[in-house]
Amino acid sequence: MTSSNADAAATATAVHAEHYDPTTIRLHWLTAALVVTLWIAGKTIDWFAKGDPRIYARSTHIAIGLVLALVVVTRIVWRVRSGRRLPPAPGLAGSAASAMHGLLYLLLVAVVGLGITNAVIRGDVIYGWFTIPTPAPHDLPLRHLIGHLHAWGANVILIAAGLHALAGIAHQLLLKDGVLRRMVPGRES
Ligand code: HEM
Ligand code: HEM
Repeated sequence: MTSSNADAAATATAVHAEHYDPTTIRLHWLTAALVVTLWIAGKTIDWFAKGDPRIYARSTHIAIGLVLALVVVTRIVWRVRSGRRLPPAPGLAGSAASAMHGLLYLLLVAVVGLGITNAVIRGDVIYGWFTIPTPAPHDLPLRHLIGHLHAWGANVILIAAGLHALAGIAHQLLLKDGVLRRMVPGRES
C-alpha cells in the first residue's frame, strides 16, 4: 500500500469509528421527518375545500410546525451543551459539509420563525377552537410578504436538505468512508 493510500484508509477508519450520540441522532432524524412532512402538508393545504376542511389542514400544519420549533430548540441546546460534535471529513469536502450544516441550522430557525410569524400575521383560526390575535389585521402586503418568504424558505430548505442527503449517500456508496454511519441509529459507541 502506498503512503497516500494508507493515509486515506486511516482517515476512512477514523471517520468510520466515530458516531453521534443517540440523542443527536434521534433529533436529526425527527427533524428530517418533520421538515418533509411539513413541506408536503404546506403544499397540500389548498387541496382541501374552503371552510372547516382547509382550517383543519392548516391547523395541522401549524401544530406540526410548533412540534418542529420545539425539536429545533432542543437540538440546538443539546448540541451546544452536551451533544457529541465530530470533526468534519478532511479537505474541501469537509469544509463544504460544515458550511451546509450551518446553512441547514440557519434555514431551520428562519423557516420555523417565518411560519410562526405567518400564522400570527394571518390571525389563523386553530381547529375552530380559537383565533390567533393578529397585530396587523388589515396589512395585506405584509401578509403576502411573510407568506412568500415562508414558502420560499420552505423550498430552499428542501433543496438544501436534498443536496445534503445526496452528499451523505455519495459518501456511503462512492467514498465508503463511513460518514453516513455516524448518523445511523444503533451504531453509537
Ligand atoms: C421547516 C418547517 C416548515 C416547512 C417546510 C413549511 C412549509 C410550508 C409550505 C410549503 C407552505 C405552503 C406555501 C405555499 O406554497 O403557499 C406553508 C404554509 C404555511 N405555513 Fe409552513 N412550513 C414550516 C413550518 C411552519 C411553522 C413552524 C408554522 C407555524 C407554527 C407554519 C405555518 C404556516 C402557515 C400559517 C402557512 C400558510 C397556510 C395557507 O396559506 O393556507 N409553517 N408552509
Ligand atoms: C430536512 C432534512 C435534514 C436536515 C434539516 C438535516 C440537517 C443536518 C444537520 C444540521 C447536520 C449537522 C449535525 C451537527 O453537526 O450538529 C446533519 C448531519 C448529518 N446528516 Fe442531515 N439533515 C437532513 C436529512 C438528512 C438525510 C436524508 C441524510 C441521509 C441520507 C442525512 C445525513 C446526515 C449525516 C450522515 C450527517 C453527519 C455528517 C457528518 O458527520 O459530517 N441528513 N444533518
